[in-house]
Amino acid sequence: MSKKAIGIDIGGTGIKGAVVHNKRGELVSNRLRVATPEGGEPEDIATAVVDLVAQLDQPTDRPIGICFPAVVQHGHTQSAANVSDRWVGLDADKLFTEALGRHTHVINDADAAGVAEIKFGAGRKQSGLVIMTTLGTGIGSALFYNGVLVPNAELGHIDIGGKTDFETYAAYSAVEREGLSFEAWAERLQVYYSTLERLLVPDLFIVGGGISKQHEEFLPLLKLKTRIVPAELRNSAGIIGAAALAYISE
Ligand code: BGC
Repeated sequence: MSKKAIGIDIGGTGIKGAVVHNKRGELVSNRLRVATPEGGEPEDIATAVVDLVAQLDQPTDRPIGICFPAVVQHGHTQSAANVSDRWVGLDADKLFTEALGRHTHVINDADAAGVAEIKFGAGRKQSGLVIMTTLGTGIGSALFYNGVLVPNAELGHIDIGGKTDFETYAAYSAVEREGLSFEAWAERLQVYYSTLERLLVPDLFIVGGGISKQHEEFLPLLKLKTRIVPAELRNSAGIIGAAALAYISE
């Protein structure tokens, strides 16, 4: 397996990419970012990714892995949040493979971030059940049992206490939208993580997303039986995990 691969992390507002050293789990180029095209149409996003890959200026056989904020089953995107509805049911592996002229594999963004944390970050050497969560516009989630990914857990969308789609209430975007204090947000996170703990009995929670930089403001406020730790790879986790999975060909 080639040591280096390109990882691309597509989000609702930005597309980030870098070259990753897959054995060390480190970026070996600058991290580049372009804005997500208005409307989030598949062809426009594919063109933006092609431009970003060109800017990285790598050999044309460098493998590419892409992560995306949606359910991605066998390379097909099955949902769409903050992007065009035309992604639903789309063969995203094919779209990017054709646009980039080389085999390209697409996976869910939280799954990618979790893979990076399990291989190189806060989940290294952890056995049993690890639940990775990302707190951002939504709540992304990824499940690992003894280091093996169970893909496409969508635990941000569970209903708790009459609140449907709990991510709209407890993701970091709710803090921004409603101007919540960390204490008020932590009360919502307490309900969220204690529900996951009760239903799934994990060995470790990892908390990622941009706000995890400020984990000292809210993680100590949570009272859980399960250890809960901040992600270590922060903003690069999606890129590193996508690059690590660039070789999957199903
Ligand atoms: C989506 C997930 C995604 C998460 C974080 C959720 O709204 O359903 O697929 O992983 O947001 O981007």
